[in-house]
Amino acid sequence: MNYYIETYGCQMNVADSELIISILNDAGHIQSQDIDVADVLLFNTCSVRDHAEQRVLGRISNERHRKKSKPELKIVLLGCMAQRIGQRLISEDLGIDYAVGVDQYRALPRLLDEDRGSELGFDSSENYERMLPVHQGEHCAFVTIMRGCNNYCSYCIVPYVRGRERSRPYEDILQDVKGAVKRKMMDVTLLGQNVNSYHWNELSFPALLSKLQEDVPELYRLRFVTSHPKDLSDDLVQVMGQGGKLCEHIHLPMQSGSNESLKRMNRSYSYEQYLNRVRALRAAVPNIAITTDLIAGFPGETEEHFEATLSAMREIEFDYAFCFKYSEREGTAAAKYPDQLPEEIRLSRLQRMIELQREITLRIYRAQIGKEIEVYVEDFSKKSKSQVSGKTRDFKIAVLDGDESQIGTLAKAKVIDATAGTLICE
Ligand code: 5AD
Ligand code: SF4
Repeated sequence: MNYYIETYGCQMNVADSELIISILNDAGHIQSQDIDVADVLLFNTCSVRDHAEQRVLGRISNERHRKKSKPELKIVLLGCMAQRIGQRLISEDLGIDYAVGVDQYRALPRLLDEDRGSELGFDSSENYERMLPVHQGEHCAFVTIMRGCNNYCSYCIVPYVRGRERSRPYEDILQDVKGAVKRKMMDVTLLGQNVNSYHWNELSFPALLSKLQEDVPELYRLRFVTSHPKDLSDDLVQVMGQGGKLCEHIHLPMQSGSNESLKRMNRSYSYEQYLNRVRALRAAVPNIAITTDLIAGFPGETEEHFEATLSAMREIEFDYAFCFKYSEREGTAAAKYPDQLPEEIRLSRLQRMIELQREITLRIYRAQIGKEIEVYVEDFSKKSKSQVSGKTRDFKIAVLDGDESQIGTLAKAKVIDATAGTLICE
């Protein structure tokens, strides 16, 4: 069969789609970029916020008309939404034929071949051992090292849909990274909901970072997401301090700067402990870029708690912050908190947060003007075909004049201007 796949949500979903593509290709199916010729439409979905779920439902509702002229067309919901509410959505007659959750992808070919409803077993220990994803990116690879999460932050649906933490065997990761490097991918990101708790036999996460650098000398840039601040060990700080292939960047979600909110979020650290980790990282890697995730309008967040987050943002000066408006997720502890905030407060706090971060990012990016940087050119710029864009080691987007021949290569560039999100270079 020809299948077409669309992916929503985080990088883990992008990596899962690559795994799904490998499973389907091995079973003889063929990926198509053209939705018009496909016999199966797959939607790999995200449940982290309500907005993400609504977007996918909108997409499916736009595509289901295809079944009129092609009755044998199948629409398959994959990923977090399939795990969370797949069966309910099937019964609601939205055009979805099957729902296949995050630990059931091995069964996908059987489902398509036998065309017999979804009686898939749920295997919460699945770590897709000995399976190699087909990397779809041309220049950057995302390599899953662990699945699931044990943390139960009170707002988060992930532990319910993605199950308990499971690490991938080192040999599989090694093979995956070697394959990416062989395909000339110079930027490799290791993925997990909480990479710091990676454990395979005696191998810890910091040891994995060192071992990969030793075992794959051709590796050029190595990164990882996401780190939980409570598990960011001194060993990891030390490995980062050694530099090498590891990029000068860490994504370290703070979520809130208020100790009261952090407690109710079940984050297991105080703002002071978070700041201590930031200071340790900056001492070990002086030019490290730190990015974060923040939630505005968490239940019970007072103006004072929110101000604590703004003042933490001013104190730390993140290079960038992904700011989110709190979204109630049915089944999580925070959804049951009695003091949910009205939508207007969530939204206005989100806007204040974004505005403050924009000023900080602009200041940090403008401070780069005049510096020489290394850009790994990945694509044309969004605005013009006579410009190319890529990433710096410290996870900033840079654009410069250039043409197709530069894509996939490293450019030495000089920063001549900056916006709150892009370094303009020559
Ligand atoms: N509402 C808003 N943001 C959320 N996140 C996770 N769950 C929610 C939610 N219910 C954010 C967190 C997390 C990022 C991936 O998404 O900031 O770090
Ligand atoms: Fe969700 Fe917290 Fe796990 Fe991250 S660490 S996936 S926010 S429960």
